[in-house]
Amino acid sequence: MAASKEQILAALAKVPSPGGAPLTDARVLSDIVVSDGKVFFSISVDAGAVKSWEPVRKVAEAAVRAVPGVQSALVALTAERAAGAASRGPQPAHVAQNRAAVAAPQPHAHAHPTDKVQPGIPGVDAVIAVASGKGGVGKSTTAVNLALGLRDLGLKVGMLDADIYGPSLPKLLAIKEKPQTIGGTRLKPIDRYGLSVMSIGFLIDEETPMIWRGPMVMSAITQMLREVEWGKLDIMVVDMPPGTGDAQLTMAQQVPLKGAVIVSTPQDLALIDARRGVAMFRRVNVPVLGIVENMSYFLCPECGTRSDIFGYGGARKEAERQGVPFLGEVPLHMTIREKSDSGMPVVATEPDGPHAKIYREIAAKVLEQIKGGADAGRAAPKIVIEA
Ligand SMILES: Nc1ncnc2c1ncn2[C@@H]1O[C@H](COP(=O)(O)OP(=O)(O)OP(=O)(O)O)[C@@H](O)[C@H]1O
Ligand SMILES: [Mg+2]
Repeated sequence: MAASKEQILAALAKVPSPGGAPLTDARVLSDIVVSDGKVFFSISVDAGAVKSWEPVRKVAEAAVRAVPGVQSALVALTAERAAGAASRGPQPAHVAQNRAAVAAPQPHAHAHPTDKVQPGIPGVDAVIAVASGKGGVGKSTTAVNLALGLRDLGLKVGMLDADIYGPSLPKLLAIKEKPQTIGGTRLKPIDRYGLSVMSIGFLIDEETPMIWRGPMVMSAITQMLREVEWGKLDIMVVDMPPGTGDAQLTMAQQVPLKGAVIVSTPQDLALIDARRGVAMFRRVNVPVLGIVENMSYFLCPECGTRSDIFGYGGARKEAERQGVPFLGEVPLHMTIREKSDSGMPVVATEPDGPHAKIYREIAAKVLEQIKGGADAGRAAPKIVIEA
């Protein structure tokens, strides 16, 4: 029989923290993800206390492994710094409204064993995920152009490439350099087209076997959120790994998300996966900001004729079915592919073209959802994840 979250918590209650109090009372635990007999969670402590907590981490991991039904356990120890208040400097009048709307309180509320509010990222007003149920649907291309569209709305935008299986921002933004460190411990994001960019590709060795990557997600993500000097951002766009498995779930729980954008192609199979994506975010109480249909139709570069090669309107219908907004259609077009793959995203390099316009419209809709979606998030039913 699969282990439940309650069993895990009961086992952890018997593990003493360095001060002697049960681990479950020490207010250091992240949410606990239990899925198919695999258990993940992190212990977040002050940077200065890491040494005394390492033995606790080991004991906690062993205690969880000993719970009947647990096949594997991964407990990450993360050093957390005190979250500074996100104070803002003077803002240009024409963007002040957008920025203020984004900065509205986080609607996000997790089922949390310690009732600790998930910490935000200091200086970052809103974090949104771009996700897909299925790989290769154009999630990263959409994420980059959406981020640039948000930039064009006057927002200060960051991008975090959290796709542990195939980080692609270095390619899509033609980043060859590695980020610099500040004071030997903190990383400085790379600036590209006005976006502050960090990629998991900078932290994980390309040689790391795929099988190891899932368990590394949590510590790598924590590092990218807490040990990067993001500065002041209105929005951070996260390019998530494709799929709806453990890695994605962990991520959705680790990152304080204001909402998620799901990318799908119009084919039935992709739409089934998109549906899983919507369900996953709902389960962890993250509002779905909407669905983008990518490679929606083919625009002949020669004659401009439109062909609906994968059928038409699938994602729009799916969005209706799921009761989530439909954010727009991006055509399958050679220019998008060429520009994307050569590190010159269309919104940045052809800002007056038809594709840039489409992405900017999507960005505007996303922003609308962020502004108006807070209540929807609060009203969402809270469902605790269990194996
Ligand atoms: N609208 C589009 N028109 C033409 N080509 C596109 C479009 N969107 C994405 N592509 C191309 O499709 C390929 C896959 O896109 P991308 O890497 O963005 O997908 P992904 O969903 O992030 O993939 P992965 O699952 O591997 O992370 C890339 O070569 C990209 O240039
Ligand atoms: Mg990708």
